[in-house]
Amino acid sequence: MGESYQVREHDILIVGAGGAGLRAAIAATERGLSVGIVTKSLLGKAHTVMAEGGIAAAVGNVDPDDSWRQHFIDTMNSGKFLNNWQMVETFTKEAPERVIELEQWGALFNRTPQGRISQRPFGGHTYRRLCHVGDRTGLEMIRTLQEKVLSTGANVYMETTVTKLLKDGGGRVVGALAYTRESGSFVHFKAKAVVMATGGWGRIFKVTSNSWEGTGDGVVLAYDAGAELVDMEMVQFHPTGMVWPPGVRGLLVTEGVRGEGGLLRNSEGERYMERYDPDRMELSTRDVVARANYTEVQEGRGSEHGGVYLDITHLGYEGIMKKLPTMHEQFLKLADIDISREPMEVFPTVHYTMGGIKVDPETCATNVPGLFAAGECAGGLHGANRLGGNSLSDLLVFGRRAGMGAAGYVEENHHGTQIDAGEIGTEIGRVLEPLEKPAGGDDESPYLMQQELQEAMMEHANLMRNEDSLKEGLGKILALKDRLPNVKVGGTRLFNPGWHTAQDIRYLIQISEIILRTALERKERRGAQWRLDYDGPDEELGKINLIVKKDQQGEVGIERREIPPMPEHLSALIEGKVADMAGGEKRGVESQF
Ligand code: FUM
Repeated sequence: MGESYQVREHDILIVGAGGAGLRAAIAATERGLSVGIVTKSLLGKAHTVMAEGGIAAAVGNVDPDDSWRQHFIDTMNSGKFLNNWQMVETFTKEAPERVIELEQWGALFNRTPQGRISQRPFGGHTYRRLCHVGDRTGLEMIRTLQEKVLSTGANVYMETTVTKLLKDGGGRVVGALAYTRESGSFVHFKAKAVVMATGGWGRIFKVTSNSWEGTGDGVVLAYDAGAELVDMEMVQFHPTGMVWPPGVRGLLVTEGVRGEGGLLRNSEGERYMERYDPDRMELSTRDVVARANYTEVQEGRGSEHGGVYLDITHLGYEGIMKKLPTMHEQFLKLADIDISREPMEVFPTVHYTMGGIKVDPETCATNVPGLFAAGECAGGLHGANRLGGNSLSDLLVFGRRAGMGAAGYVEENHHGTQIDAGEIGTEIGRVLEPLEKPAGGDDESPYLMQQELQEAMMEHANLMRNEDSLKEGLGKILALKDRLPNVKVGGTRLFNPGWHTAQDIRYLIQISEIILRTALERKERRGAQWRLDYDGPDEELGKINLIVKKDQQGEVGIERREIPPMPEHLSALIEGKVADMAGGEKRGVESQF
């Protein structure tokens, strides 16, 4: 007798309950469809909360000259033109509407004296564009979306981990297999469409702002199902993570600190950004500031604990409590530092993954029928470097579009959710193997393998890269891949973190291999991909995305795919040929309250 399992059926299954997943669920339920949301974590606990400083949207409340056009230019410039320009156009046009909608659903934004949503500056944004809730914007967004979702009737399955996307005989995704972390029992989710909204994979690195969930499950599940991935070499190091004490190394220090006037200094007291980007200084783009911070420390001008100094003391206690209360509490409680009196020590931390599942810019459909993706696990919008604050608006704009795209697909396709008999049994056997196989002499601990992997990625796929080191890193990751079949864990299925890690390690290894292979392929300096063995960007490589797809042999296939030329109305923006950037649009959005 095979293992028994429960069956749950929905029109649409959404994997992930961060901002993108929740926004997709709202859009799909509005069409009267049945929606299930699966999260391996708890509702309300998502990396979305780590986008603290704000939501980028050209609402023009404090700088009326702002426009979607300028937001488009800033986003393309920051992404070094690898971005999918169609996504960027949609995104910059729709972001303001999504922010206002969030306010109407109850998000309590900071206010201008006129009662409008307040906006702060952020790196690489020409205007003050970040709609914010102090330094807790992501948290407020999740809170608001969560409340909205609960009123829609969507079913939420918490602490439930998806292990495989299931396809029918026609190659359509028609559900997923998952297990509950509490009891280790299995669930077959039947659905006519699946939306991946599983976030990024910062946990492949040792120093990261991501919490334990960021293991990239969704991107590997989609890759295994035949989905194309894009720009996987592009990993964002946020310039400012905590460095001390060691237990909190990598924890995010919001860009909101620099947005509110925070100054970066080295051990010599120098405002060194003058040497890296004299025009934008601390508000340069993240790739530039992260490299500057890294270089200062490498060249011996670092702080006591190996970072640089970030000083916001000029804002005073009152100002800090109004604009950056979380930062004040975080440093006081964790590092015994009062940031209204002393500077912080900061250093780059892995924060975000620009690459991901390739999607259609309108519907967020992948190349696999029935499979959609949005948010950090999807690629294309941010190109080679994401602007701070663009992630939260990305979740809203493309989360909604993925929900609508999946709904449209379900409305048009009336196929069943039948899969091969036996497929579920085989998958359950695979998932249980590390627990149930007999102990042997060459057993491997998934924890130790994870640690080795994180160290290897930190050393070889860091924010400065070169061919020899990337190759050495790839060798280490492939050696870990060979050891995968030996992973063995003890204990039972009940809340067994070792068993969960045995699942995660497969994703971590696969993604690391893909990142290293694509980083080897992109032989240039562009945004987050900074090859020390090349001295600048390569014109030809600037015209292509690297597309990854599992090949016939099950290996990583990489294709150089040309980026289609921009249409006239967008290239004119980039070339500075548009005089009236605001284009007669009404600027300055009144608060609803
Ligand atoms: O620094 C921050 O508050 C992060 C924002 C983001 O990643 O968009």
